[in-house]
Amino acid sequence: MMRCVNVLLAVMMFVVTIQTTTTTSPEPSRILVLDLMGHVSHKHFIMAVAEKLAGRNHSITYLTSYEPTRKRPNIREVFIPSDPSFRNIPNLFNTSKMQIYQNASTELHKFCPNLLATQEFQSYQEEGEKFDIVISGLRMLECFLPYVHKLQVPLVYVFPNKLQGILEDLAGSPFLHSIGGSLIFDEDFPYSFKYRTLATLYTEFSKLVNQWYILPNMESDCKSRQLCPDNLPSLAELRVNSSLFITNSVMTLESPTMPYTPTVVHAGGIHCRPPHPLPLDLEEWVAGSGVAGFILFSLGSIIKPSDMPPLYRTVLVEVLGSLEQRVLWKWDEESMSDVRLPPNVKLAQWLPQQDILGHPKLRLFITHGGLLSLQEATYHGVPILGLPLFADQSQNVGRAQRGGWGRLVKWEDLTYDLLRNTILEIINDTKMRKVVQHRSMVMQDQPVTPGEWVTYWVEYVIRHRGALHLRCPAVHLPWYQLYNVDVWMTVIVVTATVILLACYITYKILRCCCSACCRRNKKSKQE
Ligand SMILES: *[C@@H]1O[C@H](CO)[C@@H](O)[C@H](O)[C@H]1NC(C)=O
Ligand SMILES: *[C@@H]1O[C@H](CO)[C@@H](O)[C@H](O)[C@H]1NC(C)=O
Ligand SMILES: *[C@@H]1O[C@H](CO)[C@@H](O)[C@H](O)[C@H]1NC(C)=O
Ligand SMILES: *[C@@H]1O[C@H](CO)[C@@H](O)[C@H](O)[C@H]1NC(C)=O
Ligand SMILES: *[C@@H]1O[C@H](CO)[C@@H](O)[C@H](O)[C@H]1NC(C)=O
Repeated sequence: MMRCVNVLLAVMMFVVTIQTTTTTSPEPSRILVLDLMGHVSHKHFIMAVAEKLAGRNHSITYLTSYEPTRKRPNIREVFIPSDPSFRNIPNLFNTSKMQIYQNASTELHKFCPNLLATQEFQSYQEEGEKFDIVISGLRMLECFLPYVHKLQVPLVYVFPNKLQGILEDLAGSPFLHSIGGSLIFDEDFPYSFKYRTLATLYTEFSKLVNQWYILPNMESDCKSRQLCPDNLPSLAELRVNSSLFITNSVMTLESPTMPYTPTVVHAGGIHCRPPHPLPLDLEEWVAGSGVAGFILFSLGSIIKPSDMPPLYRTVLVEVLGSLEQRVLWKWDEESMSDVRLPPNVKLAQWLPQQDILGHPKLRLFITHGGLLSLQEATYHGVPILGLPLFADQSQNVGRAQRGGWGRLVKWEDLTYDLLRNTILEIINDTKMRKVVQHRSMVMQDQPVTPGEWVTYWVEYVIRHRGALHLRCPAVHLPWYQLYNVDVWMTVIVVTATVILLACYITYKILRCCCSACCRRNKKSKQE
């Protein structure tokens, strides 16, 4: 009897071990990541996703427009140079926004075929590497879809920002403009009628431009240069055949929160991690700041601080030098040759940003307001002062200001008094510190980490060969059916007809009565 029980137990243990091992170590898969043409900050997010997958022993081939800076386990980076006019960022301090966007948009449809045509991609393609899944960025990369189609594998999109209305068909998740608003225009919920009109028109206009101008031109350019085969479904058809949409957003911190289908996978903060101890010399310097603490000042990876006009730099140096706190300033050159730096300010070309943000002596983060930096500030619970320059930065900082965990200072308003007072107010503001620490708790209070969440869903799609059952049919419905516009129109028309008819009949009856009355009155008068 005892032996029987033992055997049974052994068998059960065996079964249990098998089950746990099959859920914890997946069959290694081969994953292709297409991260071409985005800014280098996009690579920080997409690479973080790739690293989590590589951590699960999948082997990753990562096509990138930025030369690899270091070797990562299980990731092979293949460098495909993108158009220099796309990669070389002009001096953002003295170039108008219009100029930047104009340059980026004139020949947009040619960028993608140019990538296909590069020697680097052609020789990579000849290797004929096989894959189980493709994870693709979506900045004008549609011309790679025929290549994905030929691989006959599921397609997953990865987007370095929050889901927007213009991408709802790629995400397979209908987007409510009335709640989701627009990343381009800045306004808090509840939106005004004007805002909703602008946001809706902007989204629909962008969709039309993409559908009727960019895609067809890209397709014909690609075909005429024999980079895309002729006998394939159209790019417009291929692009909506995706299985997942990985978005750089924390679902519980979205304001207002939004409904999503299961194909939308939130990975915001995937690159965030607890701090490591600082390098010794830096730790010593920081420790020397005493109770006043220190400030981190970084304009991110795209903006070149040394492009800054001398006027701005003078104000910054004077204000920072006047503070009680020490200041760590990320600067792209070894030193400022023409300026004597105050003793409490230290320049560095590279800084371990997350280890600094997680340091207990840090009082404030002065930032350009890039999404990744703000996510790191939120994760580590540090208030921010934003000096935004371009793209979504001023909206990001505007939201932080309205949310009570940061302040916005425009470069053109920059003066000694304004900057100094704003810094002192933030450092002195205990309420702001509480708000940002609460946000940090909300961000970390998730059933699983963003890394676990993403790897689970990517492996799920591989296991279920595309998992097309997750896909919401909304993307294939015309808009008037999706929003039941035809139903409401019918209801309105029928109701209006009934009301008009009722009015008409009542009017007729009243008129009849009236004229009958009148006639009788006349008659009686005549008598
Ligand atoms: C990855 O592979 C290594 C070596 O084969 C193994 O020790 C490790 O447990 C694997 N990791 C996962 C998540 O499967
Ligand atoms: C725009 O493109 C032209 C020609 O390619 C280049 O000379 C110029 O520097 C670019 N300007 C910006 C703002 O990128
Ligand atoms: C659409 O996706 C499925 C599964 O992800 C894939 O098997 C199929 O080949 C794709 N269809 C086209 C036309 O590429
Ligand atoms: C912007 O500043 C740089 C020097 O920092 C200069 O070379 C360039 O010509 C300036 N551009 C404009 C449009 O003023
Ligand atoms: C900081 O706050 C304290 C008390 O709330 C106040 O007395 C002090 O003047 C403030 N300092 C600045 C620079 O705002």
